[in-house]
Amino acid sequence: MRVSYQITLKSSGKQFSIQEDETILEAASRQNINLPYGCKNGACGSCIGKVIDGRVRHDQHSQAALSSADEVSGFALFCCAHAESDLLLEAREIHRNSDIAIRKVPCRINAILRPTTDVAILKLQLPAAERFQFLAGQYIEFLLKDGQRRAYSLATAPSQEGALELHIKHLPGGLFTDFVFGKTSPSLKEKDILRFEGPMGSFFLRDESKKPIIFVAAGTGFAPIKAIIEEIHLKNIGRPISLYWGVRRPNDLYLNSLCQDWAKAIKDFQYIPVISDALPEDAWTGRIGLVHKAALQDHPDMGNHQVYACGAPVMINAAHKEFTNLCHLPEDEFFADSFVNASDLAVN
Ligand code: FES
Repeated sequence: MRVSYQITLKSSGKQFSIQEDETILEAASRQNINLPYGCKNGACGSCIGKVIDGRVRHDQHSQAALSSADEVSGFALFCCAHAESDLLLEAREIHRNSDIAIRKVPCRINAILRPTTDVAILKLQLPAAERFQFLAGQYIEFLLKDGQRRAYSLATAPSQEGALELHIKHLPGGLFTDFVFGKTSPSLKEKDILRFEGPMGSFFLRDESKKPIIFVAAGTGFAPIKAIIEEIHLKNIGRPISLYWGVRRPNDLYLNSLCQDWAKAIKDFQYIPVISDALPEDAWTGRIGLVHKAALQDHPDMGNHQVYACGAPVMINAAHKEFTNLCHLPEDEFFADSFVNASDLAVN
C-alpha cells in the first residue's frame, strides 16, 4: 500500500496530502497550491521553506542552495524534499503576480506556425535547466537589440511541460511583427535565440473563487485565455465556463477546433464564437456582432460571475462599462488585459 501523509501550511492553514514518491512541491502543485520554485532540481534555493514539525528526506541537492547546517535548523528545499511523516510547514504561497520573481531568460524559437495569413504561433524552447514560473494569463516582454521591448501573452498553461507558446498578430509596419512575418531582412527563423523578461501582468485566474467564469476574447486576445482554460482543465478546477471569442471572419478563429474539443472534453464548458464582419461567402450561421454584446445577451445577470476579458481597449472598456452597469457584475470581478493593435507596442 502506498504511504501518504498530510501537510499543513502554517500561514494559511491549507492542507494537502503527499505520496511517498512525490516531492512537497509536486504534491502542492497537484492540489492547486502554488509554491515558489526556480530550477526544480535542488540548485537555486527558490523553493526553500521551513519544517516546523515532522521529518523530511532530501534528494540530492546543492550545498549552496541548502547547507547541512540549514537542514539541521529545519530548512528544506521543497522541490527535492519528501515527507517521512505528517508535516507542518512554513512556506511562502503564491497568491499574486508580485510573488514571482521577474527574470531575464534566453529562449530558442522552436517553431513558427502560421494558422492564418496574419497570425503566427511561436513556440519557444527554454534552456534545459530553466524552469520558468508564471501564472496562466501573464505575459513576457521580448528584449530587442535597440533597447525596445515587445509584450506578448503566454498561451500555454504553466503546469504544461514543453515549449512556451505565443500568438502574434501581424501589424504591417510593426517592428517586431514584420520581423516575425518575414517582412524584414533578416527575419525571424526557427532556431534563432531571443531574450525575454517576465512574467508580468495581473491578468490571471483568481482561483480562490468558485464562481462561474465568462471569458471574452477578441482576436489574439485569445492567447492568455487559452492558457487559463488549459490550466483550469489540467488542474480539474470544476467551474462552469462560457468562452466568447470574437473575430472578424470565421477563418480568423485560428484555434477553432481546439475550442470545440474543449467543449466536448470539459464539463460545463460552452464555446460561443462571434463574427463581426461575415461575408456572404462565409456562409456563417453562428453568432454575429460585437463579442461583448453576445456575452451580455446570454448573461443579463452577471451578479454571481467572474469575467476575464482580453482584446483591444475599445472592447475592454465597453465590456467593463456595460457588464458592471447593466448586468450587475461586481466591479472587482472584472479582470482585463488590453492591448493596442495599432502601435505594435503592447501586449499581443
Ligand atoms: S526550485 Fe531550485 S532548489 Fe528547489
